[in-house]
Amino acid sequence: MKVLDAEFMKGFMRMADDGWQQGWHERNGGNLTYRMKAEEVEAVREDLSFDGEWKEIGTSVPGLAGEFFVSTGSGKYMRNVMRAPEDSCAICEIDEAGEKYRVCWGLVNGGRPTSEFPSHLMNHEVKKAATNGAHRVIYHAHPANTIALTFVLPLTDEAFTRELWEMATECPVVFPSGIGVVPWMVPGGRDIAVATSELMKQYDVAIWAHHGMFCSGEDFDLTFGLMHTVEKSAEILVKVLSITGGTKRQTIQPDDFRHLAVDFGVTLPEKFLYEK
Ligand code: 13P
Ligand code: ZN
Repeated sequence: MKVLDAEFMKGFMRMADDGWQQGWHERNGGNLTYRMKAEEVEAVREDLSFDGEWKEIGTSVPGLAGEFFVSTGSGKYMRNVMRAPEDSCAICEIDEAGEKYRVCWGLVNGGRPTSEFPSHLMNHEVKKAATNGAHRVIYHAHPANTIALTFVLPLTDEAFTRELWEMATECPVVFPSGIGVVPWMVPGGRDIAVATSELMKQYDVAIWAHHGMFCSGEDFDLTFGLMHTVEKSAEILVKVLSITGGTKRQTIQPDDFRHLAVDFGVTLPEKFLYEK
């Protein structure tokens, strides 16, 4: 089968385009990776090439040895993924040590996978272990409301989780484990990858101060929906703060969250249900 005929690739392209249409991907902003299933690799193997040069990932991910990933390319535009996938994306194989990758499909006009490949792969490694292989998608975007809040709220997991939970009743159900916050760091390298993957051990969402957001999920729908829910909640908070200057007349209270958790069968860590 051709890569472009495979359902996983259609899902990948649709998600990239959905993010573009949300306004989360100015220029080359944001990136997306998908850890392929063994049967998906087999289905398209005839369309892959295995003579590419092995290149350093820049970090070590032994838990992903031998895995194949679809990745957007560095400097490529989400806007173009649907229109020119062979130019904008790559399928990359990870070597047996988890130290190197090679391009097996795509990037027909040259280039390399996203500059955030180290962060994506370290997040994948953590999530693969934490979810017994269920999580396959890591998504990075630059949604404006979430970024705006990183100039206003304290840069703590507690502040972001609680404030965003309060903005929509569905939020604690969609991201019950909460949100991690990474202080401003230089993007693209191993240090920010280590900091993010550390947070991904307990959260499915990490916010990079003054930069953007990372989400992890089982499939394209769940991961896109997670980013969409967090950003929608951030938009409501921006509106509330803009209208009121910061004082809410009423909001969802800690005991309300506890009752919600019982009825919806989710566990909400008590560290987020502090008295204000
Ligand atoms: P890439 O074009 O290398 O994917 O970088 C975009 C980005 O958002 C970096 O954080
Ligand atoms: Zn970015």
